[in-house]
Amino acid sequence: MPALTNIDACVFDAYGTLFDVNAAAKNCQGDLGDQWAPLAQIWREKQLQYTWLRSLMDEYVPFWQVTQDALDYALATLKIGDADLRKRLLDIYLQLGAYPEVSGMLKTLKEAGLKTAILSNGSPEMLASAVSNAGLDGVLDNVFSVEKLGIFKPASRVYQMAVDDLGVPKERICFMSSNAWDACGGANFGFRVVWVNRFGQAEEGLPGQQEHEITNLSELPPLFGL
Ligand code: LAC
Repeated sequence: MPALTNIDACVFDAYGTLFDVNAAAKNCQGDLGDQWAPLAQIWREKQLQYTWLRSLMDEYVPFWQVTQDALDYALATLKIGDADLRKRLLDIYLQLGAYPEVSGMLKTLKEAGLKTAILSNGSPEMLASAVSNAGLDGVLDNVFSVEKLGIFKPASRVYQMAVDDLGVPKERICFMSSNAWDACGGANFGFRVVWVNRFGQAEEGLPGQQEHEITNLSELPPLFGL
């Protein structure tokens, strides 16, 4: 028996799960030197914090704005005042590549008859750009953005959107995220969850328990016996 059965759809978080969220800072290593890694870390942490804080404040703005605000905070923290570099970092962020195993993994799932989708905080334009740049158009059935709800993950309404738009009950949806808090959010909502622990993080002390933990998405098809 495969480890995962009775699943109709596989729904994926985008940034850090399918797309290499650190690639923008890394690609500017020539300018940033050793500061590329702290910049990537502060940028990402602040980006996520702003999504949670804005959701609590009822002050939604698109993820693209949050991403720019978080970058400005990170650049100010590291005392980097280079406007050209800021523009380059943002341009690259719109074209982040997928992790190497992603395309083949999605193809395998689709060929086995599973629906495939993204469920992300990302603005529709950001997601469309990343999906097309990574050549994933043909292997994804749907791309769902929080934009139409005006609130970010881990609000339950966001996870519910995938249920409603796919027409698949939540217990037949398998949700994959590399973000431990997002994996908890999805599991707490009622999805079956596989935590893609790419970054070797500790478990969060939050409600919601994943069913499986893997280190990258090449380990996902075997859970379905594929
Ligand atoms: C997303 C962020 C949380 O894609 O990674 O929704």
